[in-house]
Amino acid sequence: MRKALSILAALIVAATSLSGQPAFRKHGDATQLTVNGKPMLLLAGELGNSASSSEAYMKDVWPGLKALNYNTILAAVTWEMIEPQEGSFDFSSVDHLIKSAREYDIKLVLLWFASWKNAASTYIPVWVKTDFKRFPRAEEGSGRPLEILSTFSDNNMKADAKAFSALMRHIREVDTAQQTVLMIQVENEPGILTTPRDFCPEANAAFNGPIPKELGEYLKKNRNNLTPTLAKVWKENGSKTSGTWEEVFGKSKIGGWEHTGERDWHDMYYYTEELFMGYYYARYMGYIAAEGKKEYDIPMYCNAWLKGPDYPWTGMHPGGGPLPSVMDMYHCAAPAIDMLSPDIYIPNFTEIVEWYDQLGNPIFIPETSSGSLGVSRMLWAMGEHNLIGFSPFGVDRSARGADKRAITEPLALAYAHLDGMQDFILANQGTDAMRGFFVDVEHPSCSLEMGEYIVNIDLVMPRNYATMGGPAPTGARQVDNSANGGGFIVLSPSGEYTVTAQNVNVKFAPKDPGKLPYIGIATLEEGEYIDGKWVKGRTLNGDEIHASIFTGTGLKMNSLGTQKVTLYRYGKR
Ligand code: DGJ
Repeated sequence: MRKALSILAALIVAATSLSGQPAFRKHGDATQLTVNGKPMLLLAGELGNSASSSEAYMKDVWPGLKALNYNTILAAVTWEMIEPQEGSFDFSSVDHLIKSAREYDIKLVLLWFASWKNAASTYIPVWVKTDFKRFPRAEEGSGRPLEILSTFSDNNMKADAKAFSALMRHIREVDTAQQTVLMIQVENEPGILTTPRDFCPEANAAFNGPIPKELGEYLKKNRNNLTPTLAKVWKENGSKTSGTWEEVFGKSKIGGWEHTGERDWHDMYYYTEELFMGYYYARYMGYIAAEGKKEYDIPMYCNAWLKGPDYPWTGMHPGGGPLPSVMDMYHCAAPAIDMLSPDIYIPNFTEIVEWYDQLGNPIFIPETSSGSLGVSRMLWAMGEHNLIGFSPFGVDRSARGADKRAITEPLALAYAHLDGMQDFILANQGTDAMRGFFVDVEHPSCSLEMGEYIVNIDLVMPRNYATMGGPAPTGARQVDNSANGGGFIVLSPSGEYTVTAQNVNVKFAPKDPGKLPYIGIATLEEGEYIDGKWVKGRTLNGDEIHASIFTGTGLKMNSLGTQKVTLYRYGKR
């Protein structure tokens, strides 16, 4: 009997390690999330902050989430709810999430709201909130304590890590086989606010003392592999590997807190303070992640409240949070954090994603806005930046009752279209065969070189727009400034272009005109990937394509869809 049991146990272990657990794997240049051994795209959405705290509230939400085609939901798990008394744990809030997610065949990314949520420490249990002597707060320069647990306290860090380890142990126990929980976000938009750095006594000592030894060693070892932002400042200050923070990175340029005139968020005001806080936030969260991974090792990331025109400097946005300006600090002090991710609510989405795509950082957007603009941006990032997943915020609101409505949300329609083509996208991410594009009223055209053609992409302008260069005719509607389009293209080895896009015209021109400068469409069909297989729809020609002698040959993609095209070339006899 005993022998039979141990054989069974060995079989369970073997089966588990065969498919492993959710993990990041390289595929060409891309990093992909594998679940049960297979890569997956997270067609996701994040719940509002309080949604997951109530099973009753969520009962009305789950059917709508399914109807809106989310395959993954980001949901908060809070320290205050799982450890209401010190050392006594209650995982019911996690268990109801996992149970319901499985019922609806939806995966989860759990957000660990603990030491910090949007910089503040509002989700810590009451026994931590009230014991400010044992769990010290960050301080402003005036000595005023803030409602922010200080990163300079090991008590804070270890108490958080203890609760997090208990959570990860629980997830391992209940979820290793099924892999409903895919990743963990450690904290939420952490960083110091209202002041460029923490001024508590321990922080002052650290700022005026030598930089940590590991940081000096990191700079030395990675001197040719630092972010350009850090490399510039470090070199300007003599490329030192020891000394105080101000000796190594210089005395910061100081910004005014009053907002007059133009603010340029690229200006590195208080940069040394940001690096300093970045190092210590990273160390704290890296410790928590590493402790959690000892229990259950799945991908872990941190999300950022970005700097931008309204929050240009550290302290105005949570300073030391996981932004590319301090990416080197995270790589040095938090190796257990696998990815830094931006919450993008500011307009320059493409610039932000490009900024995060440094030093091999995978791209995942945990929070942003949805709608048609969201879809165009997502398609671009999928093709151009190997996007792991996309997740607009507050999706429980529109999900309530959505199962009873006709689904018209652009994102829900896009997720339905993309779901069946996941294998196709994932096979091509990380290779030269795939490119993405995004166009809007400010940048209505772009070109990509792919194979023997240049692909020219133009935004479909709203109707009545005065396209002929002259003034708009009387009564014509104004340009819709929010018009946008996006998509991705895959070039197969046989020369077929597969274009998934919306709101664009796609035309081709030979890269090298030579003796065959003219092109035409050989074959063009629309269709859809269903369960990974291409299912052909209409053969497109005539009014459904651009075939005018005047305007050139190409694809009309006014609404989201996929078209496959092959081309031919001709010249003078
Ligand atoms: C960003 C935060 O990360 C979210 O939890 C939420 O508070 C939103 N802002 C609110 O829009």
